[in-house]
Amino acid sequence: MSDKLIIFDTTLRDGEQSPGASMTKDEKLRIARQLERMKVDVIEAGFAASSNGDFDCVQAIANAIKESTVCSLARANDRDISRAAAALAGAQRSRIHTFIATSPLHMEKKLRMTPEEVLEQARQSVRFARNLCADIEFSAEDGYRSELDFLARVVEAVINEGATTINIPDTVGYAIPELYGNFIKTLREKVPNSDKAIWSVHCHNDLGMAVANSLSGVKLGGARQVECTINGLGERAGNCSLEEIVMAVRTRRDYFDLDVGIDTTQIVPASRMVSQTTGFVVQPNKAVVGANAFAHASGIHQDGVLKARDTYEIMRAEDVGWSANKIVLGKLSGRNAFKQRLQDLGIEMESETEINTAFAKFKELADRKAEIFDEDILALVSDESVTAEKEQYGLVSLAQHSETGERPHASVVFTVDGREMHGQSDGNGPVDASLKAIESHVKSGAELVLYSVNAITSGSTESQGEVTVRLQHGGRVVNGVGADPDIVVASAKAYLSALNKLHSKADRVAAQG
Ligand code: KIV
Ligand code: ZN
Repeated sequence: MSDKLIIFDTTLRDGEQSPGASMTKDEKLRIARQLERMKVDVIEAGFAASSNGDFDCVQAIANAIKESTVCSLARANDRDISRAAAALAGAQRSRIHTFIATSPLHMEKKLRMTPEEVLEQARQSVRFARNLCADIEFSAEDGYRSELDFLARVVEAVINEGATTINIPDTVGYAIPELYGNFIKTLREKVPNSDKAIWSVHCHNDLGMAVANSLSGVKLGGARQVECTINGLGERAGNCSLEEIVMAVRTRRDYFDLDVGIDTTQIVPASRMVSQTTGFVVQPNKAVVGANAFAHASGIHQDGVLKARDTYEIMRAEDVGWSANKIVLGKLSGRNAFKQRLQDLGIEMESETEINTAFAKFKELADRKAEIFDEDILALVSDESVTAEKEQYGLVSLAQHSETGERPHASVVFTVDGREMHGQSDGNGPVDASLKAIESHVKSGAELVLYSVNAITSGSTESQGEVTVRLQHGGRVVNGVGADPDIVVASAKAYLSALNKLHSKADRVAAQG
C-alpha cells in the first residue's frame, strides 16, 4: 500500500506575507472554502496572535471549515499559543503550529538566545501547546542552516513533549535538492524517536528550487507532508507551489509511489481565485496553471496532439480544472443554466439573493459580450458587489472622452456609504482622468504603487479587461481588482475596490516573528 502525502496549504499565512497580498476576512474565507473543496489536508489560516484582524480570520475559518484541519501559527511562547488555541476553539479539527529559529545566525543575531535557551523554550512551548490541542506541529525556523546535532536534540525533545509533526524549513531558499533531501534523511536517522512524528518540508523559492527541494525532501528524506501555497505565492520569490507538487506526485506516481487526496479539478479555480484576490498575476508559462500550460502553438506539436494526445501532453487540461468546453453561456442562457455552471465551477453562493445579483450581472455582461467563458464567470463572482454585504464605495456610472491631440476628460458617479458623488477630472489618459475624478472627492492621499491590465480570456479584443490597482497609505498596502469589457470602467472598479480595503477596519502586523 502507498503512503499518503499530506498537503499543508499556507496561502493564507505565509502566502499573505508577500508585500501587497494581504486579504480581507471575506476573501480569506472564500479561499479557505475553495481549499476545502480541493480537499487540502491542512489549511494554515493565519497567525492568530499577530493582530486582532488575524485572530478574527483564523476564528472565522475555524468555524466555517468542516473537512480540512485548520491551523494557526504561533511563536514558541505561551501567549501566542493561547491565542492560537482560542481562535481555533470552534474547529472540527485543529492544529497549533509553533516555531522557533534554530540556526546559529538566527539564534545569535535575531533571538539573542543561547542554543540551550532555545532548546528549553521549544520544549516548554510544545508541552504547553500539547495541553491545549492534540495536533501539534513544531517548526525549526531556518532549520536547513542549523547545526545537525543541535537540531536533532531539539527535535527529539519536542517529539518527547508530544509534537506530532516536525517541519524543517528552508526559510531563506538556500537549499539544493540533493543536499536538502539528504539533510532530512540524516536528521531523521539521528533522532531516536523520529518515527513518532510525521516529517514535513517547507521550502522558499529564492533560487527557484522550492518545488525540487520539497520533492527531494519527500523522496530522499522520507517527509510525508509538504507545505505549499497556491501559485507559489509568498514572501520574496514565494513558497513551494501547491499545483506543481500535487501534479508532480500524481503524474509521476511510478516514481514517488504516494497518494495525494487533492481533487485536482479544483486547482485552476483556486489559482484564479488567489490571483484575482491578491492581484498577483500568474505568468502565462507557469506550470499547470499558466494560460499557456496546455497551449500548443507549433505546427508539429499541434499535429502530434491531434493524432495522439500523449505525444506532447503529460497531463490532461481538464484534470486540473481547465474546462474542455470553454464557451459556456451566452445572452439566451437562463438562470438554471447559470446556476448549474456555478456549481460545475465549484462556486457556492451563500443565498438565492447572491445568485440573483450574480445572474443580473451575468445578463448585463452577456448583453455586451457574445461569448461568456468560465474565466468571465469567475471574475464576475469575485466582484465585491456580488459577494460582499455592504461596501463603502461602489461604481454607478462613468463617462469619458478622449481624442487625438486633446486632453482626456472623465466624469464618474460613485456611491460613498450609499450617497451618490459626481467627480470630474482631466488626465494624461482616460484611466488617469477617471481615477483622478474619484480622488477629487475621496482625497485618500494613497499612493498608486501598481496598475496592471490583463485580458481575462486570451485571443480576442472582445475579452474583459481585468485591472489590478495597488494602493499604499500609512504603512498599509492593499490590492483592488475590477473586471469589465471596458478597461476604463474596470480601472475605476479596481480603484474603488482598493479604497474599500484601505478604509476597512482590519488591522494587521507582519505575520512572522
Ligand atoms: O519559512 C519559515 O521558516 C516559516 C516558518 C514560520 C514555518 O514560514
Ligand atoms: Zn515560510
